[in-house]
Amino acid sequence: MADMTPKILRGRLLSFSTAPKGPDDTDAYSYIEDGALLLRGGKIAACGEFADVAATADEGTAIIDHRPHLILPGFIDTHIHFPQAQVIASWADQLLDWLNDYTFPAEMKFADKAHGERIAKAFYDALVAHGTTTASAYCSSHPASVDAYFEEAERRGMLMLGGKTMMDRNAPADLCDTAQSAYDDSKALLKKWNGRGRAHYVVTPRFAITSTPGQLEAAGTLLREYPDCHLQTHINENHNEIAYTLELYPEAADYLGVYEGFGLLGRKTLLGHCIHMNDRELGVMRETGSVAVFCPTSNLFLGSGLFNKAGLEQAGVRTAIATDVGGGTNYSMLRTLDEGYKVLQLQRQRLHPLACFHWITLGNAEALSLQDRIGTLEPGTDADLVVLDARATQTMALRMETAESLSEELFVLQTLGDDRAVVETYAAGKALKS
Ligand code: GUN
Ligand code: ZN
Repeated sequence: MADMTPKILRGRLLSFSTAPKGPDDTDAYSYIEDGALLLRGGKIAACGEFADVAATADEGTAIIDHRPHLILPGFIDTHIHFPQAQVIASWADQLLDWLNDYTFPAEMKFADKAHGERIAKAFYDALVAHGTTTASAYCSSHPASVDAYFEEAERRGMLMLGGKTMMDRNAPADLCDTAQSAYDDSKALLKKWNGRGRAHYVVTPRFAITSTPGQLEAAGTLLREYPDCHLQTHINENHNEIAYTLELYPEAADYLGVYEGFGLLGRKTLLGHCIHMNDRELGVMRETGSVAVFCPTSNLFLGSGLFNKAGLEQAGVRTAIATDVGGGTNYSMLRTLDEGYKVLQLQRQRLHPLACFHWITLGNAEALSLQDRIGTLEPGTDADLVVLDARATQTMALRMETAESLSEELFVLQTLGDDRAVVETYAAGKALKS
């Protein structure tokens, strides 16, 4: 539930209006040294200099002083697996072995609603601890896991996206649905949850290997019936995965051609990984406005490959960044930026810290088509916030002694920071961490 009591948060405010073109692009963001936000009814009612905001607030409005910390829009994770909270840190070779040996067995346990409820609590505790206020998650193939997922989000007042994983082959029988049952269950869940409070339903076929053509057809039908819904799936993550997909779909021009053929592409389509893309696929991504989701900790952990951000963006493809827990190894979007930065360093692509913090806030909000609600500190938007301390550890504090600019501070946060740097997380105006 949103916190209805008005309050003022005082601190150093940072919010982006566009993607910074370089280190000196000060037009891309607003930074207010002695800033304040007035929160009312779960929304940001005012944002500006502390003195101005305090003057507009009713007398007696509580002031929460977060100085000298930074206040940013809450972090957004565009690709994560809720039933993989106990899969994270599993020693495996590559994607397909990791799925078969650890992931599918762990997801089978979500047939039990009580298990889903317990893991949902832990999952949201982890998101909040790490400053993530919105995520788009794969639930398991069991409808009960979707209920557990959205029920817990509702309790905390968080804007979450997610859906039932559709999978009807190449997995243990207990995890498989059918094309028809996946359609029926997804539709019922969508009707129940999409637009209820802050919930957004995402049509979620796992990937082409675990869906028959009939099931991808059903996913396309759902999207046509509910065009405001998102779709999420995986693509071009791993060479063995790609080869197997092309065996299963010999008629397709390439991997993206499979999803394209069933009408699954568009501006609300989130495609996890997009590492090994050909030129035709890049063109189709651009034409359809589909989003390529970079999952650096996962791509390194599973040895999948290096996401070519510059190549994708030069081709006009929209990009987002995400943890992909449990293939990913950390819930923290700061740790994710750190690993992402290194993946791009290996390809001689420089990523500036201002661009990084834009990416995990407004950039990811735009990738989700939710920039009117989340991702900035604009008045009228939802009060989803993170408060960051760049001196949270001894290592960080020592390094901060010589930091002279906001950019340096941000780089310390992304390179050394994790949940310890997150002082507080607010969702719909409510403090959830402390
Ligand atoms: N491809 C299909 N399923 C998955 C999954 O759970 N994680 C990752 N990283 N890739 C996948
Ligand atoms: Zn994934």
